[in-house]
Amino acid sequence: MDVQFNPQSHEWKPDPYSKYRELRDHAPVHYSPEAEMWVVSRHADVQHVLTSPDEFSSKTQMRRQRNQADELGAFQKFRMLVGMMRKMHVTPWQAMRSRMLIGEDGDVHALMRQIVNKGFTPRRVHAWDDRIAELVAGCMENIRGREHFDLVEELAVPLPVTVIAEWLGVEPERQHTFKRWSDAIIQGGTGSGQQFGGSPDNPVWLAIGELRAYLRPIVAARRASPADDLISLLVQADGEAELSDYEIFLFVLLLLIAGNETTTNLLGNGVDALLANPDQLESVVADPGLIPGLVEETLRFDAPVQFITRVTAQDVELAGTAIPKGSFLAVLLGSANRDERFWDEPDRFDVTRSTTGHVGFGFGKHFCLGASLARLEAEAAFKGLIPELPRLVRSSAEVEFLDSYLIRGRSRLELRRAA
Ligand code: HEM
Repeated sequence: MDVQFNPQSHEWKPDPYSKYRELRDHAPVHYSPEAEMWVVSRHADVQHVLTSPDEFSSKTQMRRQRNQADELGAFQKFRMLVGMMRKMHVTPWQAMRSRMLIGEDGDVHALMRQIVNKGFTPRRVHAWDDRIAELVAGCMENIRGREHFDLVEELAVPLPVTVIAEWLGVEPERQHTFKRWSDAIIQGGTGSGQQFGGSPDNPVWLAIGELRAYLRPIVAARRASPADDLISLLVQADGEAELSDYEIFLFVLLLLIAGNETTTNLLGNGVDALLANPDQLESVVADPGLIPGLVEETLRFDAPVQFITRVTAQDVELAGTAIPKGSFLAVLLGSANRDERFWDEPDRFDVTRSTTGHVGFGFGKHFCLGASLARLEAEAAFKGLIPELPRLVRSSAEVEFLDSYLIRGRSRLELRRAA
């Protein structure tokens, strides 16, 4: 069977899962000529790739930039580079030497992870219990008086964006600006905004430039006088672990995207799955002790991050397929989570199942740094919302998906009170 699949296409958005099944059955390691990527879809192969960083490196950034630059002429390439460096207030030398947690391997990754782990210890995460409960209560208060509302706008967006802003120690009242930046980056990088290519006028670069300008004085202020927030923790790392201002900016950028878009979509995807499976909703209403299971099952059943990327550090063989050094891989988390070789009845949404082995937060050394924070937020949000859900119905059967081939979620989830 000749299977064609481009992981960067929006064609699969309404239902990627039947396509994933075809891939797993007929082309588990598939080459997509359009994306110039190898697509890995079975659970065992996904786990192997994510636990073999010597073969499958996280240093994908250089290759992505090289490919983008190859498509442009020499003058445009130069113009693009100068424009970006100017916006970023960084010299080419500083940019080349800068480390970014998610794009490093081995010792450099371990060192960076050690610095940021300090900001995500169980004690630090649970110190947010009350604040998160308070934020959820505020959102629910707004919702309760309304006949009709968009759950994404009222709860799924404001909760994570406020938490990440307060965690970082930046002004939470600017949450709309943070959200605008992270949306621009996701849409521009993985959605329809890709049409702007590598131009410095790309909304992605405009958003990144604005974030950089916003953060520079804040980082300087925390260096002069540290507070009890994450940026202060980053500026205080010293010795080999010392981070440059540009590296701190890259880390904040990562947190803004990772801590924001993903949790929002976990909430929307979970509510959508509950509304489509009333028996499961009934179970969690009857027993709120099932809420942690609901969170994990949503991460398995409809993962907010559908795939992550790796690049081969050497010639490798994966499930009998030879892949040359320097190849780009799309590692399909969303497919591994539905692999019938690993799960019983994978297409059934079941909040009581054992979800051990889901890869919704990744796997191996880059396992999501914010997993416990995301769980805390999602559990609190579901706890507030679930008693109300049986009295709510969707206003329209139509599902509006997020403009991204990478992040899976609902851009709106309009609900109204049942008659
Ligand atoms: C439902 C919510 C979330 C999902 C589904 C999710 C998913 C993921 C995945 C799949 C990875 C692995 C990337 C890779 O291996 O290349 C990852 C890494 C990461 N996540 Fe999350 N994430 C979520 C929430 C968060 C939050 C709330 C934060 C921070 C506040 C966060 C911060 C990070 C960071 C910093 C990394 C990089 C870790 C490393 O490279 O060592 N994430 N996340």
